Amino acid sequence: MTTPHPFEDTEAFAHKLDAEDALRGYRDAFHFPPAPDGKPVVYLAGNSLGLQPRNAARYIQEELEDWARLGVEGHVHGRHPWLHYHELVTEQAARLVGAKPLEVVVMNTLSVNLHLMMVSFYRPTKQRFKILVEGGAFPSDQYAVASQVRFHGYDAREAVMELKPREGEETLRTEDILETIERHGDEVALVMLGSVNYLTGQAFDLPAITKAAHAKGCFVGFDLAHGAGNLKLSLHDDGPDFAVWCSYKYLNAGPGALGGVFVHERHANTKDLPRFEGWWGHDKKTRFQMGPTFEPLPGAEGWQLSNPPIFQLAALRASLELFDQAGIAALRAKSERLTGYLESLLDRLPQGYVRITTPRDVKQRGAQLSLRFRGEPQGLLKRMGEAGIICDFRKPDIIRAAPAPLYNSFTDVYRFVKALEGYARE
Ligand SMILES: Cc1ncc(COP(=O)(O)O)c(C=O)c1O
Repeated sequence: MTTPHPFEDTEAFAHKLDAEDALRGYRDAFHFPPAPDGKPVVYLAGNSLGLQPRNAARYIQEELEDWARLGVEGHVHGRHPWLHYHELVTEQAARLVGAKPLEVVVMNTLSVNLHLMMVSFYRPTKQRFKILVEGGAFPSDQYAVASQVRFHGYDAREAVMELKPREGEETLRTEDILETIERHGDEVALVMLGSVNYLTGQAFDLPAITKAAHAKGCFVGFDLAHGAGNLKLSLHDDGPDFAVWCSYKYLNAGPGALGGVFVHERHANTKDLPRFEGWWGHDKKTRFQMGPTFEPLPGAEGWQLSNPPIFQLAALRASLELFDQAGIAALRAKSERLTGYLESLLDRLPQGYVRITTPRDVKQRGAQLSLRFRGEPQGLLKRMGEAGIICDFRKPDIIRAAPAPLYNSFTDVYRFVKALEGYARE
């Protein structure tokens, strides 16, 4: 299906779109790896690992200096005392996902946080013990939910329910998700979906899913690995019980970066939810009295276990500052245009060369387009790499291209598709 687009297929037009882009200056805030010809690469893999913000090294260096200069005193007398360092990113992270600061904390990594959240929000009973997930969820999510149900003594084949696309379709229909919740919700303890599926690039309707699941008495959580920094999220208003995300993709905080957690305000002060406890989740006022009884901090902070890694937080600070300056609403507006531009140029490639498997509806996708090419994808990827174009590959045969609005340009997208056009015509 080809939709008419107002985009022209010329380099001059790509330059014009860049000149009109109010966010174009943010590109200079990032390091672009050099291509084989020494020029910056066309980097379309920000859905896998985002580029390095130029300020990251400086922010990490400051903490290294304070450690060298102050030793243990850095916890209190550093330029950014480490005791409170994680709080420096809380408000920015909250704005990014549409939450209140009380509802957000940056800690650990995604799979760890998903387990911690399931300790609290997967409370199976004999009648209601299932977890509803999307079929083809990221493997770590599949392992996490399967091991959680086994941990509670259930058989994962029975307790993990997968949503599957209809015969002959590649993505899920919202109506089918809602219908499954309506039909099976009484048996479901937890609905846990990605916000954007890593392989298809499909974005789910979080408010509708949350509403339907809550109406049936299920807890709801989302994996925002591909949603945070990509979509304009409204977690507080949408009302899921929890969400988790990582910060190395669209959030550009570096390999293995810290993850984020959202716990809805309605759970901020509940003492009856079980949780795994650690001293960093203990009330700040009495933490250093070293008492034997855990008194949780209100809100998401109460789920913290350990004192956090400061250098990782420093890298995240450098990135979240940029998101905060640009604003996620403006970034999303640019992203829709940039991905729409990519889509329109791909649609003009020779018939049958590439198929976009991500939904065409902008509300059902973020920056990523998942592409199936005629011929062997890994060879194509290698050639692209030699030409200075970085995308990524996921088995069985998907190349994912994700123009990130914070640093990608319309000219990047144009150069990518022009290279493909050359290969298609060979
Ligand atoms: C959708 C999704 N969930 C979970 C993970 C696992 O993240 P982590 O290694 O930070 O636990 C990833 C990693 O890419 C992912 O894409």
